[in-house]
Amino acid sequence: MGYKTLCFGLTCILFAYFIYVPIPENVDEPWKVRIVDAVVKTTSLTAMLFENIGLMGYEKLFSTLVKLDYTQPISDENVTVMDTTFTDIPVRLYLPKRKSERQRPAVIFIHGGAFVLGSCRQSPLDLLNRLTANKLDAVVVGVDYRLAPQYQFPTPYEDVISVVKFFLEDKTLAEYGVDPTRICISGDSSGGTLAAGVVQQIQNDPEFKNKFKAQALIYPGLQLVDISMPSHQEYEHGPVLSRNMAIELGCLYLTNDKALTQAMRKNQHMPHGSGHLFKLVNWSTFLPEKYRKQHVYTEPVLGRLNTSFSILLDNRLSPLATNDSQLQNLPLTYVVTCQHDILRDDGLIYVSRLRNAGVKVSHDHMEDGVHGALSFMTLPVYLRLGIRIKDKYINWLEENL
Ligand SMILES: *[C@@H]1O[C@H](CO)[C@@H](O)[C@H](O)[C@H]1NC(C)=O
Ligand SMILES: *[C@@H]1O[C@H](CO)[C@@H](O)[C@H](O)[C@H]1NC(C)=O
Ligand SMILES: *[C@@H]1O[C@H](CO)[C@@H](O)[C@H](O)[C@H]1NC(C)=O
Ligand SMILES: *[C@@H]1O[C@H](CO)[C@@H](O)[C@H](O)[C@H]1NC(C)=O
Repeated sequence: MGYKTLCFGLTCILFAYFIYVPIPENVDEPWKVRIVDAVVKTTSLTAMLFENIGLMGYEKLFSTLVKLDYTQPISDENVTVMDTTFTDIPVRLYLPKRKSERQRPAVIFIHGGAFVLGSCRQSPLDLLNRLTANKLDAVVVGVDYRLAPQYQFPTPYEDVISVVKFFLEDKTLAEYGVDPTRICISGDSSGGTLAAGVVQQIQNDPEFKNKFKAQALIYPGLQLVDISMPSHQEYEHGPVLSRNMAIELGCLYLTNDKALTQAMRKNQHMPHGSGHLFKLVNWSTFLPEKYRKQHVYTEPVLGRLNTSFSILLDNRLSPLATNDSQLQNLPLTYVVTCQHDILRDDGLIYVSRLRNAGVKVSHDHMEDGVHGALSFMTLPVYLRLGIRIKDKYINWLEENL
């Protein structure tokens, strides 16, 4: 009695409160989305409380919940599934069982989770990668890069790079029967950030003979330069991913210094000497009219932090803040954006910028979409939106890879 009952009671009260937070009118299965949203908000507030009383880091409660959903590598009649390592980084491989006359395509999948949570072993992603392998007769590689805050930037990024380098070697491709001209890298949310950054590096580096044929970015975060875009403002409180939660978790990728979190909330985190990046992420220039609405552009404020986080200029964190000469070498691109998502404008602006640079882009905008739906494709929370995104993604790969 006592402490635990009190905690349980408080959680119930919070949940009951959050369940009545309004959500956008056009979302599919509104009650399910409300439940997801209320669970996330309750977890976030509880996590904040635990952090303030010194019990555990903000991310710990989330990662405990997410870990409940990790799966074992279980093969089925069509696909052999196994956990192994590439250059010491854990990966989950999906290898089609049927005999193939020709070399197979391949997909490298980078999971989301704000750089601090998640795994390719989560059941919805396991399902996604398994279906991809079966439908495309493709080799699929899920990458379990190390996570912040234990491993901060650039470790997660470097882990993905080292898996990619290893996989793209002729020797590895031959071992798995992969066609070097049919390889895609995909990622959702922060996995999209990592995928987009890695593609930029690989395609622009003459050292790599084998390149990507395609990239698929599902509601990706693509920059930290300006976090007061119209979508950040309109969906500040969610549904599902609120601006505060994204900042709180995302900052852990860079530092444990809470001054950065505070400054980011006010969009005053960029250091002196970073103003040249603004034009590359300028929503007032690149966002289609329809999404700009009544919003008025103001530049982020520079140099308010005493510690200057020069890593904030790094385009491995903000692939959108890359100039056209680097973008024009990018491969065929698929982008999914969701209307009711703080990260919406990152994706929309990348679509504009890539098209301006001459890159061929397919874009699906989910008018009723909320962030993270791909992670709600299996019980206990099963959103039709997640299934629709999965189907669009796999169909695109089938037609383009
Ligand atoms: C195996 O593939 C067939 C044909 O695509 C499909 O009908 C069947 O459901 C698959 N089995 C599993 C376990 O996914
Ligand atoms: C952003 O775009 C608007 C409209 O195109 C323009 O007036 C403004 O100068 C731009 N600012 C920067 C920093 O690029
Ligand atoms: C920066 O340093 C000054 C002087 O030491 C101090 O007054 C100010 O509060 C600090 N600002 C932040 C954001 O920490
Ligand atoms: C584009 O970015 C690359 C790498 O950051 C840099 O070397 C190059 O000078 C830039 N080009 C232009 C035109 O700014």
